[in-house]
Amino acid sequence: MGVPKEERFSKGGFILSAIASAVGLGNIWKFPYITGENGGAAFFLLFIICLLIVGLPLLLAELAIGRSGRASAASSFVKLGGGRGWRAAGLLQVLTPFLILCFYVVVVGWTLHYAVLAFSGSLRAGSDFGGIFKHFIGGYMPIIWQAVSMVLIGWIVVKGVSGGIERFNKILIPSMAVLLVLLMIRAVTLPGAGAGVSFFLNPDFSQLTPESALVALGHAFFSLSLGMGILLTYGAYVDKRQSLGPAALAIGAGDLIYALIAGLIIFPTTFSFGIAPNEGPSLVFIALPAAFSAMPLGTLFGGLFFVLLAIAALTSAVSILEVPVAFAKEKWGWSRTKSVWIIAGISFVCGIPLALSLGMRPELGFLGKSLFDWIDFLTSNILLPVSGLIVTIFTGFYWKKAGEAAGLSSAWFRAWLFMLRYIVPVLMLLVLLYTSGLLKF
Ligand code: PFF
Repeated sequence: MGVPKEERFSKGGFILSAIASAVGLGNIWKFPYITGENGGAAFFLLFIICLLIVGLPLLLAELAIGRSGRASAASSFVKLGGGRGWRAAGLLQVLTPFLILCFYVVVVGWTLHYAVLAFSGSLRAGSDFGGIFKHFIGGYMPIIWQAVSMVLIGWIVVKGVSGGIERFNKILIPSMAVLLVLLMIRAVTLPGAGAGVSFFLNPDFSQLTPESALVALGHAFFSLSLGMGILLTYGAYVDKRQSLGPAALAIGAGDLIYALIAGLIIFPTTFSFGIAPNEGPSLVFIALPAAFSAMPLGTLFGGLFFVLLAIAALTSAVSILEVPVAFAKEKWGWSRTKSVWIIAGISFVCGIPLALSLGMRPELGFLGKSLFDWIDFLTSNILLPVSGLIVTIFTGFYWKKAGEAAGLSSAWFRAWLFMLRYIVPVLMLLVLLYTSGLLKF
């Protein structure tokens, strides 16, 4: 895959786009509730440690592979590794994001629907918010919103790397920052918000369990969009003079700051209205609408919150669609436009049974899990850690030119290689055993 100029990022555009990929539902939806379940700030500290010891080394590895291979996520391994055995490993880096795209876009649709609901004033104080959510996912509306989301995502990706992905992220990431700060100021000035802030920021180490450590590790990995072929693909669009080490640090810091501010919105808001912060995944679609509906100007703040959530989800989905698109362009020689619409179309169709399995078609599931939950489980808990293991083994043991490609000084390179060889694989293996259910506490 030759990479023409319009298919490359500028230096700043690359960092912003990688942050846009990293900051997604994981930061605003998942991070607050797992923090709530694992003892607040003590978990937050653990998360930072996991970002440093596992996240950043892998992030740098994926970027270095992508930039040296200058190919799709599937072929960079084959190009750099030489052996044919890497072909399957490469294909996994394209299959996994395709599957994630199928269900993630369903949730992007929910966020858009809730933004409209909130702004239209339909989320009134005292409503049965659990019932509203159930009613919504039980009907056909999620499919309409899924289609709208897919078209929006496709429209951005069709415009290319610099004219689409980078251009939109340059607008959307600062917009998200403004929304986050605005909502944070609203949240921390609510009566009784202090209890939420201290729950989030006062470390309670007695709540930490070995399980929390694995949850934090898995989330650090997911939150940086690792194992999804995204950074391999984006790496191919990065200028060869850009320093990858500082870029990786900036991306990790950006991800952390957005997660921190999201926590400072969610906890004070829920605590202020007496809602438990550890309600699991339904927190954002049930507990938060309840809280927003009860506050002055709640229509405005609730609407803005869901716009924020929708932007976070959309910009991550953009990055994940680019992975199979780059692959299709390279493999079949399709134009960008053709690749985008064919892949978006197939992924939309595959996503329909997933969306319906949560509502009117519960028979689309087995062993007590819906089809949606199975695909989420298969990708997040099995395929992602396996992909991470492949990247770390490839870079740590197999790829002779990793040091040169990452552009690190020799001391940093030795530290990086040590992590990739002896620390990251062991920890990723533990995460895999835990998330697949083989390791129990
Ligand atoms: N880092 C992203 C998040 O936190 O939501 C992970 C992600 C998921 C990226 C799904 C892209 C995607 F389509």
